Amino acid sequence: MFRLDGKVAIVTGCGSIGDSLSNGRAISLALARQGAIVYGLDRNLESAQETQAMIEKEGGTCHVQTCDVTRPEEIHTVMQDCITQAGRLDILVNNVGESLPGDPLSMSADTWQQQFDLNVTSAFLTIKEALPTMIEQGRGSIINISSVAGIRYIGKPQVAYSASKAALMQMSKTTAVIHARKGIRVNCVLPGLMHTALIDRLADKYAQGDTQGFIDHRNNQIPTGKMGSAWDVAHAVAFLASDEAHYINGTEIVVDGGFTATTP
Ligand SMILES: NC(=O)c1ccc[n+]([C@@H]2O[C@H](COP(=O)([O-])OP(=O)(O)OC[C@H]3O[C@@H](n4cnc5c(N)ncnc54)[C@H](O)[C@@H]3O)[C@@H](O)[C@H]2O)c1
Repeated sequence: MFRLDGKVAIVTGCGSIGDSLSNGRAISLALARQGAIVYGLDRNLESAQETQAMIEKEGGTCHVQTCDVTRPEEIHTVMQDCITQAGRLDILVNNVGESLPGDPLSMSADTWQQQFDLNVTSAFLTIKEALPTMIEQGRGSIINISSVAGIRYIGKPQVAYSASKAALMQMSKTTAVIHARKGIRVNCVLPGLMHTALIDRLADKYAQGDTQGFIDHRNNQIPTGKMGSAWDVAHAVAFLASDEAHYINGTEIVVDGGFTATTP
């Protein structure tokens, strides 16, 4: 069940910004463990190579390339190179994304635009590159990493992040409907409050650097009393990528330990 043997997967943001596990690294490892050949893209090649080494140590296959997903020409060149090298493309995971604080009063128009470039336009551009090959094959699973912030106010002033993650979901749904008859599935995974490599950076932005206080606060927001891990996100992605999820299309899997159920 849920095997991905021989399938080719592209994962954006396959590295990690810190020592702990990022969603992108866990997703890359999980897909490789299920047998997929992973093509990992990251603007930080060194970090991508660490993910590659972890996968190879476990006997999996991973190739990495530098790619800044806010640069359209780079996306075109790197994605086409991966597809040509692999000869096919079965799975695309758009994992790159980041939250910056602010509301319409405090946030500059430039920051608003940067958030949309990073969180939505990047996925639009990689999907543009992936679709012709997937349509030719008659199959393909695209998984976009959104966030519960795209469906709820989750206690942090992050208007551009919330709006761009909501836009990512709607772009995914409409693309799924348009291409469903060609064998393409497009879904989102919505992580809740996860304890990933991002935590220190988030604490700097939203809790004046009080990382432990920020961790405690986030744990307390979850019904289980504990944030999730990158593996929780990765396993949902691996399921959506598998043939067993063939009837799941144009929707979301919320991975949040019941967090959003507390505010219906
Ligand atoms: N961590 C959480 O609590 C949480 C919650 C909800 C949603 N998410 C979402 O999960 C996704 C991944 O989060 P993460 O914790 O793995 O992030 P992360 O910050 O650890 O990033 C993973 C990788 O993305 C790379 N990256 C950043 N900008 C890039 C760019 N422009 N081009 C190419 N690579 C780039 C980084 O170098 C890093 O190696 C994001 O979309 C985020 O919004 C995270």
